[in-house]
Amino acid sequence: MKKLKIQGQNELTGTIKISGAKNSAVALIPAAILCDETATIFNIPNISDIDALNEILEYLNAKVTRNNEQIIIDSSNIINKEIPESISKKLRASYYFMSALLGKYKKVEMYFPGGCSIGARPIDQTLKGFKTLGAKVVEEGNKYTITAEKLIGDYVYLDMPSVGATINTILVAVKAEGTTIIENAAKEPEIVNVATFLNNMGAKITGAGTSQIKIEGVKKLHSCMHEVIPDRIEAGTYVIAGALLGNKLKIDNIIPEHIESLTSKLEEIGVDMEIGVDYIIITKPPEYKKASIKTLGYPGFPTDLQQPITTLLTQCSGISEIEETIYENRFQNVKYLNKMGANIKIYDDTAIVNGPTELKGTEVTATDLRAGACLVLAGLIAKGETTIENVDHILRGYENLIQKLTNVGAKIELIEI
Ligand code: EPU
Repeated sequence: MKKLKIQGQNELTGTIKISGAKNSAVALIPAAILCDETATIFNIPNISDIDALNEILEYLNAKVTRNNEQIIIDSSNIINKEIPESISKKLRASYYFMSALLGKYKKVEMYFPGGCSIGARPIDQTLKGFKTLGAKVVEEGNKYTITAEKLIGDYVYLDMPSVGATINTILVAVKAEGTTIIENAAKEPEIVNVATFLNNMGAKITGAGTSQIKIEGVKKLHSCMHEVIPDRIEAGTYVIAGALLGNKLKIDNIIPEHIESLTSKLEEIGVDMEIGVDYIIITKPPEYKKASIKTLGYPGFPTDLQQPITTLLTQCSGISEIEETIYENRFQNVKYLNKMGANIKIYDDTAIVNGPTELKGTEVTATDLRAGACLVLAGLIAKGETTIENVDHILRGYENLIQKLTNVGAKIELIEI
């Protein structure tokens, strides 16, 4: 078993370079199979979610060449066969293969996807997109057999702006006959990144990044090269680390506009930042003011930074509030923050944080990826030693976390027991 051991209260100074975005890369890789030639993608993060997707590619007989941050996917000899549940349940993004295979071969057989257990996470909107374009969905327990004689573009209204359903509908519509309109689409930068990639391959997608996306179907997609955008959630996590312990900590290789909801909140809290074209330099302020946070789809405050910023709110003077509107079960970190000395109470979808409180090192568990990030931040500011179990959740989404933090002065190590 792997555990993270952190000795807290060390100042962070120097530079952290942000990797490619997990939630973009995990959609780009399945999207690549829509072309029959090679797709080259740069700035792929080295995280275990990418390994799981490569396993699916290789299982489907695609040729994958990985060279550090570059991946070349040759889809010319893919065999479209049932993807076993043992692989699909490793991550949520496995279901991007549902839409890519359906879009390419008009047939797919696979199982309900995995992902962090932070809520029910149904896939009804994705299935609605498939059905609207003419596919027949047969569900047997966890298994989905989806077939279509023809995929024909249509009007798809999403009940909520779901990231996954927006990307899945784009992937299935790209080679459908005619025009598809997605209304109430999610606006996350990762969706723009995926649409740009597909357009580079010859797709005709407009409006990505707005709530209405138009896809004109094309017959063929060709070879292309593309780059993953910087990970705004990784960036945000380290910016919060800077707010907690930074002495001119530079978070580099980012798109600051993508985390404006965070930086404007940090300004309210009283954090001093220099925001450049592709970097932010942060220094810990002498004290923090309380704040209220409500998670929303982009450009609102991201649910994926809700748990990490909770650690900062434990250091703010007064009563801070966090309202989680996206997931029903994304407060599992609170139990462990309280074990470390925080004073947080949960009322339905709202957490009330009474601060400031001193955090003390103890044994805690990462119940999911961003809960793990929250506890790493807590360990970094806590007095004494913090041990975090279930580290695999964290390593799914943060490339070289230990090295990146060690380089700027943190005392953090991975231990095997
Ligand atoms: N929803 C439905 N039906 C659907 C789809 C979504 O009810 O068919 C609900 C979900 O249950 C949730 C809300 O809509 O309450 C939003 O879900 P969404 O589909 O937008 O999320 P996702 O595509 O499953 C992606 C990221 C998540 C991130 C969310 C929101 C990936 C692989 N995952 O999930 O990332 O929290 O968008 O921004 O892109 C993470 O990185 O830690 C993570 C969980």
